[in-house]
Amino acid sequence: MKLTGNTILLTGGGSGIGRELARRFNALGNHVIVAGRRRDSLQETIEGRPDMDAFPLDIQDPQAIDNFAEELLAAYPNLNVLINNAGIMRRESLTERRDLRDSEETVVTNFLGPIRLTNVLIDHLQRQAGAAIVNVTSGLAFVPLSHTPTYNATKAALHSYTVALRAQLKDKVEVIELVPPGVQTELTPGQSTREGYMPLDDFMEEVMEAFHREPTPREILVERVEFLRWAERDGHFDRAVEMLAAL
Ligand SMILES: NC(=O)c1ccc[n+]([C@@H]2O[C@H](COP(=O)([O-])OP(=O)(O)OC[C@H]3O[C@@H](n4cnc5c(N)ncnc54)[C@H](OP(=O)(O)O)[C@@H]3O)[C@@H](O)[C@H]2O)c1
Repeated sequence: MKLTGNTILLTGGGSGIGRELARRFNALGNHVIVAGRRRDSLQETIEGRPDMDAFPLDIQDPQAIDNFAEELLAAYPNLNVLINNAGIMRRESLTERRDLRDSEETVVTNFLGPIRLTNVLIDHLQRQAGAAIVNVTSGLAFVPLSHTPTYNATKAALHSYTVALRAQLKDKVEVIELVPPGVQTELTPGQSTREGYMPLDDFMEEVMEAFHREPTPREILVERVEFLRWAERDGHFDRAVEMLAAL
C-alpha cells in the first residue's frame, strides 16, 4: 500500500486507534476523512489539521451507509483507501436467557458494518489506482476471550471474510488486516488506563513501522499479538484460552 497521496475513509476516527491512524496517515501526506457517530470527537480528531474532514455515520444503519457513500464519492472522487476500524466490544453472560441486543448490535457494527461499507464502495475502489482496504480485527479473532463471546466471533468472522476478499480482489485492491492486541483505549470502560494493555502510542509506532514495510504485510501484527495469532499453529491454544479467561 502506498503511504502518501491517498484519499482515505476511516470509520471510528473519533477516538482510540482510529483517531491515531487517521492523524498519522494524515501526517504522511494523505487526505483523511473520518466517520463515526459523535460529531464532537470527530471534530477533535481533525481540529487544526489540513486535509482532514469529518462525516457523521452510524455504521449500524444500512440506509445511512448508502446515503453516506453517495455523498462521499461525489465529494471525494479520488477516494482510494477504506479503513474499516469502527467497532464495539461488550461483555455478555451466556449462562441464562437474556436480551440479545448487545449480541445483535455487535454483529451489525463489527461484521455487517464492514461488509456493507465495503459493498457500497467496491465498484469505485476497483477503478482507483493504488486502492486498498484495511480491516481492523483483533487478536481475539484467533483466541476467544470468554467474557466477550459475540465480539470474538465477529472478529473471527471478519478475519475469514478478509481472507476471501483478498483472494477475490487480487491484483485489483490490496486487502490488509490489522490485528491489535489489547490496547489502552476506551473500547471498554476503564481500558485506557488498565495495566497489561499496550499503550496506544507504543502500539501505533509498531503499526506504522509495519505499514512502511515493502510490500505491506497482508496482516499487520505487532509483537504483542503474535501469541494469540499463532496460538493454534504453535500448540498453545488451550493455554491461551485459559489465560484470557483468567483476565
Ligand atoms: N483497543 C483494543 O484493545 C482493541 C483490540 C483489538 C481490536 N480492536 C479494534 O480496534 C478498533 C478500534 O477500537 P478502539 O480500541 O480504538 O476503541 P474506541 O476508541 O472505542 O473506537 C471505536 C470507534 O468506533 C466508532 N463506532 C462504534 N460504533 C459505531 C457505529 N455504529 N457507527 C460508526 N462508528 C462507530 C466509535 O465512534 P462513535 O461512538 O462516535 O460512533 C469509536 O470512535 C475496533 O474495531 C476494535 O474492535 C481494539
